[in-house]
Amino acid sequence: MSEMKKISKKDIMNFKKLELERQKVIHDFNLKPIVTDYFVNDLVYKLHPDIQFVKVLEVIKESDDVKTFVIGPDIDKGTNNLAYFKAGQCISACVKIGVGIYQRPYTISCSPKNALDNKYTITIKRRDNGIVSNYFFDEVDKGYSFSVSAPFGDFCYSSIRDENHVIALAEDSGIIPFVSMAEAIYDGIEDFNLTIIYAGKTKNDLIFREKLDNIICKLEKVNVIYILSEENDNEFLNGLIDKEIIEQYKKEYNSFFVCGSLNFYAYINEILKEFNLPKKYIRHGLFMGEIELDNYNEYKLTVLTDSEEFHLKCNEKKTLLQTMEESGIIVPNKCHVGECGYCRSKLISGKIKTFDENIRAANEIHNYIHPCCSFPLSDITIKLTN
Ligand code: FES
Repeated sequence: MSEMKKISKKDIMNFKKLELERQKVIHDFNLKPIVTDYFVNDLVYKLHPDIQFVKVLEVIKESDDVKTFVIGPDIDKGTNNLAYFKAGQCISACVKIGVGIYQRPYTISCSPKNALDNKYTITIKRRDNGIVSNYFFDEVDKGYSFSVSAPFGDFCYSSIRDENHVIALAEDSGIIPFVSMAEAIYDGIEDFNLTIIYAGKTKNDLIFREKLDNIICKLEKVNVIYILSEENDNEFLNGLIDKEIIEQYKKEYNSFFVCGSLNFYAYINEILKEFNLPKKYIRHGLFMGEIELDNYNEYKLTVLTDSEEFHLKCNEKKTLLQTMEESGIIVPNKCHVGECGYCRSKLISGKIKTFDENIRAANEIHNYIHPCCSFPLSDITIKLTN
């Protein structure tokens, strides 16, 4: 066994010398502070702020029951600039009405170019029982201050995913995302061909006609076909959107974007089935209002949180989220189409009907649902998880 070498006095002196030399090298090295403020972080925050405080700059009456609110940043509350968005995206508006705090997604109805001038417009239709839409319609005026989320949503054109010809099928205020898309094409921000087939009961239901007609006059890439179901007028087609009309405007390759009520989705989906399209070519926007049913059943809804239990009445016409909100239960939410996952809850018992296209297999296996797009089909018990 070799004997361990003893540390000598000379070794200690050499080590001390080495340490001094090392300190000198570190000291002489031109150390720059570590960069933590990356340009890209700044850009990400500008594009996706947590919250934006806004003020109403102008209110425009579009029809007897539709108003457009022009909004800009509320500098007094710390928002200096509005985040950019893609045509077809929404913002979630958060407003206090009475004792309740409500969040509702609204599609931005102008061109993304307006965001560069620090303006968005949201267009809101008054609806029976629409707590937030009626509040906006009746109470909100110039100077009103509220908060909105960053723009979000996937109901936008993507040159990678979508065909270059988009057939937009719109009902009533479902036209809003397509107005934004048409303006974005006009402004040179988007580059695709857009044929809008726009259905309403009467001429009064067809908002933004002047704006759309102006664009069609100047641009070949955008075309609009108006259809009235309850009024005869030679300037418009009469009846309902059907396979023949779609056939007439279809090109060889098309993507279909659909926006309207849930009943409209069900009706259009039946027609589109006949074209045998892969799922990716049919996209749905926000649905408008409640589901329309002549007869509907009422059920019991039990909501569990970590510390409380609530017993409510629900029915087949309203989403579980709407029922909870109206009872003052605070449920995180943003998109109302199953996209953001904020309202995700566990279904403990009961049967639901959902139009959620975003529900993942894992959620289904473990019984997680999105109350924002779930309607009861029996008594329900859910546990809030967020
Ligand atoms: S609010 Fe976004 S998933 Fe329900």
